[in-house]
Amino acid sequence: MYEKMKARLEKIVPDVELRYKAEIAVEINELKKQKNAVILGHNYMEPALFYSVPDFTGDSLDLSRKAAQTDKDIIVFCGVRFMAETAKILNPSKTVLLPAEKAGCSLAESITAEDVRALKAKFPGVPVVTYVNTYADVKAESDICCTSSNAAAVVESLHSDTVIFLPDEYLAKNVANETGKHIIFPTLAPQPPLPLAGEGVKGGEGQLDYQLIGWHGRCEVHEKFTVKDIEAVRAQFPDVVVLSHPECSPEVVAASNFSGSTNAMIRYVQQTKAPRYLVLTECAMGDNIAAANPEKDMLRLCMVRCPHMNTITMEETRDALKFNRYVIDVPEEIRVRAYRAVQRMLEIG
Ligand code: 13P
Ligand code: SF4
Repeated sequence: MYEKMKARLEKIVPDVELRYKAEIAVEINELKKQKNAVILGHNYMEPALFYSVPDFTGDSLDLSRKAAQTDKDIIVFCGVRFMAETAKILNPSKTVLLPAEKAGCSLAESITAEDVRALKAKFPGVPVVTYVNTYADVKAESDICCTSSNAAAVVESLHSDTVIFLPDEYLAKNVANETGKHIIFPTLAPQPPLPLAGEGVKGGEGQLDYQLIGWHGRCEVHEKFTVKDIEAVRAQFPDVVVLSHPECSPEVVAASNFSGSTNAMIRYVQQTKAPRYLVLTECAMGDNIAAANPEKDMLRLCMVRCPHMNTITMEETRDALKFNRYVIDVPEEIRVRAYRAVQRMLEIG
């Protein structure tokens, strides 16, 4: 195991750390066999974990599919809580384990089921799309979910004049730009229902033309990247190709050469031939891409590690299997409603 990890990570992870983590990886893989478990690893896992124990790695959409398809008894989700919940929603007969007790997400925590109900009361009949970065009770209030790799396609699949898109403000604005829609961010103060696009408004205002209704959630990692960061790197390396996750601001996305989900960015680096790239996302993923593409220069602004992803460690992953912790449960009444929204998304692609 040490030799395998060294071949990939020699230039990324200090040798002493590799030796230590290789031993834990061996333990994890043994426990995985004994317990008939599958380990799913999100692209943001730290390099030693990412390249040693997961049976599958990928973005949120990819891993949801793997969770739905597995026939193992236990799913260990090396990611954050909303991802583990999605696995449980899709495959409820399995034991789903999250190696850290909390592993939250600033987006998931930005909105409650009650908020969604209030928005639906304010905009009756308008379909609700929620980003998978939400908890199960919020998904349960939604018509359909999306991830960063299918957000625009999901919105367009609804063929609706107006769509509520929650909770990521920046992803919503990026989807609005991509699909040519006008977006508003309503307050939830009690008011009569607002007229929808296409309905005449009496009183001389004409018609309101908003088509996307957003929410002010933000990813605490991606909101930190600025256009100035890109300009500073381009001043030093004029040939750099800049990639950004769509949870970055629309200004950062516009200043980038490419924007896409974590999988899409990985593919972009693999399939193009630029001498150097700047990846504006969680910095462990920059390390993981660098490890897989040693001939390419990967620049990363490494002040930005997701504090929630960072709680998933090799030690915690081993202990998850050893002590059967932390078990993710979703109440059945919520799960069946959330399932409809997630499954509808998976049918779109
Ligand atoms: P992906 O769906 O692109 O993997 O993104 C998940 C996430 O949490 C990004 O911050
Ligand atoms: Fe949530 Fe941002 Fe961390 Fe992704 S990177 S899990 S969106 S806080």
